[in-house]
Amino acid sequence: MCSNSCLQGVNDSFPYNSKNICQIYIYCIYFLFRWGILFSHPRDFTPVCTTELARAAKLHDEVKKRDVKMIALSIDSVEDHRKWSEDIMSFNQDKTCCPVPFPIIADDKRELSVLLGMLDPDERDKDGMPLTARCVFVVGPDKRLKLSILYPATTGRNFDEILRVIDSLQLTATKKVATPVDWQPGQEVMVIPSLSDEEANKLFPAGFTLKEVPSGKKYMRYTKP
Ligand code: BEZ
Repeated sequence: MCSNSCLQGVNDSFPYNSKNICQIYIYCIYFLFRWGILFSHPRDFTPVCTTELARAAKLHDEVKKRDVKMIALSIDSVEDHRKWSEDIMSFNQDKTCCPVPFPIIADDKRELSVLLGMLDPDERDKDGMPLTARCVFVVGPDKRLKLSILYPATTGRNFDEILRVIDSLQLTATKKVATPVDWQPGQEVMVIPSLSDEEANKLFPAGFTLKEVPSGKKYMRYTKP
């Protein structure tokens, strides 16, 4: 990913106020004060991207249930996006011929991709122009970056994992807990280290259970959120 991006890490403010780029207005209005996922693709009419968008379309209702807005980005035109949309939905064997149920930003001038550091300098089209990597940005209602995932063009993402991290991000945004390895919604979570045992007992009606470890330190505290 380009290092001159305005996003350097988690908790950075998302650049909603870059007034020089009209596309930004579209996603600002779309995302404003909500959870949002912005994910980029190398190119329209490419095989892995098609499978990813098809999966995202299938998960749209699940994403909506979590009150999250999804928006994709690819460096092709609106016209290409429209035609590609039919391929995507046909991959899903969607017989209703409905369009992809979320917007795809047509970043054909690569303005947003440059601003957000989404271009992969090692992956180029036949004219030698850099393509976008497979970036995922999750933005919170406070307009800050909550999570960023970066995959190369040759590796498709796991959209179940994206849904899982949304569940973790939304839970941990409001409760003083952290989700352990491979956590799934409904499973136990961990009390965050900054919370004392006393505070944890007050905050969590079911209290917490302590897992003993060889060090004897009492930091493996599980609770129900
Ligand atoms: C794809 O989506 O299939 C793809 C795009 C760019 C490079 C490699 C694969």
